[in-house]
Amino acid sequence: MAAVPQLLTLRVAEARALNPLIRLLRLVADDAGALPGFTAGAHLRVQVTLPDGKTDWRHYSLIDFSTQPGATEAPREYVIAVRREDEGRGGSLFMHERVQPGDLLTIEAPKNEFPLRALESCAVLIAGGIGITPLTSMAAQRKAEGRAVRLHYAGRSRSLMAFLPELQQLLGDQLELHADDEAGAPLDVEALLDSCSPEDQLYVCGPKVLLDAVLATTQARGWTHERVHFELFTTPAVEAGDRAFEVVLAQSGKTFSVPADQTVLDCLIEHGCDPLFDCKRGECGVCSTAVIDGEIEHRDYFLSDAEKASGKVMQICISRARGARLVLDL
Ligand code: FES
Repeated sequence: MAAVPQLLTLRVAEARALNPLIRLLRLVADDAGALPGFTAGAHLRVQVTLPDGKTDWRHYSLIDFSTQPGATEAPREYVIAVRREDEGRGGSLFMHERVQPGDLLTIEAPKNEFPLRALESCAVLIAGGIGITPLTSMAAQRKAEGRAVRLHYAGRSRSLMAFLPELQQLLGDQLELHADDEAGAPLDVEALLDSCSPEDQLYVCGPKVLLDAVLATTQARGWTHERVHFELFTTPAVEAGDRAFEVVLAQSGKTFSVPADQTVLDCLIEHGCDPLFDCKRGECGVCSTAVIDGEIEHRDYFLSDAEKASGKVMQICISRARGARLVLDL
């Protein structure tokens, strides 16, 4: 059975806009006591209230620039940053517009599904947009350990990027900034990989377009999976052409209609089922579900190509049906 996450109620000590898209929040315990520790790459899950009044959880990486050994073992605060998604389901708007200093937020204690490996080879960090957040802590940890690190941080423009002075101070010339509006083009992934040595480890965090570019390019170059670590930084968007379909639960005999703008997982939860899940982004693997019948449109980053090709398993938090019906072993 999955461990029950530790829930904390924390006070918003500070909430401020870093730029028009990104809001920083500092969370503390009411008694100012120490909080559960975390390691670089860890995230919090924060309970948000959506416009329809329902609650849901959103995933925010912990930001830390300290290079003091043990700084995150018993921290006095958690710092997160939230990118505003006007086209999203409302979680980020809640964090931007409803949450104010002094409010209490329910959170789950930190978890790390994007850990940094303690290797001597250089950690090459690639951030796109708000994907910078977990990489701040990774850069700080590498610096604290005296190990090699390089950060490539890409964004649409410098005015929409976050923590530039802090990163500059931490990394100096190990920081490479890429602003699309200055370069007139997106980050050149091929050139970036050309600058890596065969032992380098890549840590990538950002939107799907960046992740897909890095994964496709590293695969084409024959990089092994062990060298490429990633975390996606958007919640599953509805894609053009998404349609409603029927999902049949073979064990319980229940049938539900999954609307075009809902995932199978959310549909099951809404109907009172209790499926296992965690990231809701197709990364962690927790929601893997056996498929008995129906064609799957895989959208996850967890299953191997062979598993996807088998047509027998899917990540119900993000993948959908290609046809009108899926039969799941639930
Ligand atoms: S909940 Fe993580 S892959 Fe589906």
